Amino acid sequence: MMSAVGAAVGLGNIWKFPYITGEYGGGAFVLVYLITVLLVGFSVMISEMLIGYMGRRDCVANFENLAPRHKSRWKYAGWMGLTGSLVMIYYSVVIGWIFHYITVALTQLPTNVKEAESVFGVMMTQSPGTQIFYHTIAFLITTAVVAKGIKGGIEKMNLILMPALMGILAVMFIYAITLDGFSQAYSYMFTPDWSKLTSEAFVSAVGHAFFTLSLGMGSIMVYSASLPKEGNMVHSSLFVIAGDTIIALVAGLVLFTFLFQYGAEPGKGPGLVFISLPAVFYEMGTIGNLFSVLFFIALAFAGLTSAVSLVEPMVQYLIDKFDMSRLKAAVAMGLFFYLFGIVAIFSQIEGNASYLTWGGKNFFDWADYMTSAVLLPIAGLAMAVFVGFVIEKERIVSVLKPQMGWFFPVWYFSVRYIAPVALVVVMLNLMGVIQF
Ligand code: TRP
Repeated sequence: MMSAVGAAVGLGNIWKFPYITGEYGGGAFVLVYLITVLLVGFSVMISEMLIGYMGRRDCVANFENLAPRHKSRWKYAGWMGLTGSLVMIYYSVVIGWIFHYITVALTQLPTNVKEAESVFGVMMTQSPGTQIFYHTIAFLITTAVVAKGIKGGIEKMNLILMPALMGILAVMFIYAITLDGFSQAYSYMFTPDWSKLTSEAFVSAVGHAFFTLSLGMGSIMVYSASLPKEGNMVHSSLFVIAGDTIIALVAGLVLFTFLFQYGAEPGKGPGLVFISLPAVFYEMGTIGNLFSVLFFIALAFAGLTSAVSLVEPMVQYLIDKFDMSRLKAAVAMGLFFYLFGIVAIFSQIEGNASYLTWGGKNFFDWADYMTSAVLLPIAGLAMAVFVGFVIEKERIVSVLKPQMGWFFPVWYFSVRYIAPVALVVVMLNLMGVIQF
């Protein structure tokens, strides 16, 4: 369970959630996001857990074994395990940035936003060496932990880093409450301004709900394959969803409090954490300096516990399918995202734009867009259809009814109709077929 929370709580919560909330204007987006998490996220999470719990193997074998017919076709749905390795192409690079920012926080924070922009810009567009160095560290840690296995590596890491992360956030949260900016941050996040809610915001909310809950690429599935038979999937998923949501909201409140307190802009995009925040930390003086170090350490912890979960499904598959040793499988997957990660780094370096950019997005952006906007929702749809219409209902009833009771029909309805419709609408919107 701690590993599933560790997988869920990641850069998505602390880096992405606050900045997309800022981009879409605050409260209304938060509300849509919370509703999506409950309506779509929860039902798909139970579906993904169920496939792992009933299948007990890697993603591909689970679909193959559980499908009553068309086994050879359904097994392709198991390829969703590959998505995690694609996410890792940029995720590991961002963890690298965070490592770099721990050193920035320890040595010299930028003294104003202009300087902060240049620190970030220089790192991203002019310093392939620095980025590769820290990306290498992220790759080595992730690979070493995955090579040690779920019990020996992943669980141990989560049991240490997750409480540390929560402790750091709690301290910062308590401090934030004492500041005047807190009430402003609170109303920014919880007072909906419907005029700012575009269809793009809705689509992002669904995409982000999947991303932040770690749905749609087999992380939750392979972890559930090791749930004890008497484990309760409803409790587990509510635990993960509550933990993930609370941490995202707390991180958002802390960051927005600091930003408002020092008059910085909330809608700064991906640079929010790397540009606005360091400058604000500088203005806060000694405590800001301390917080900046703690904050980037916490962010690195959040990133690493998610990174291992992104790699694990594919590693599991290689072990099951090709009888590879865990070490070999972990290194093979590691090298995959490591090498493409270097391409992602170069795609953002000044002067390279022309040959690593297609259709207005560079390779780094494509790795993000293809996964969050396309592959995760497709996999979510596949799982909802698989559980809602393909696996025999009696089998599902016998497993879930004792755990769910009266709630079972509500969940089953949502998996069959609400989640798939929401996901299809999102995809059609992304393809430009429908606009609303
Ligand atoms: N949920 C993590 C985050 O918020 C990222 C992540 C880990 C993830 N495992 C995943 C996203 C599986 C999608 C699928 O940063």
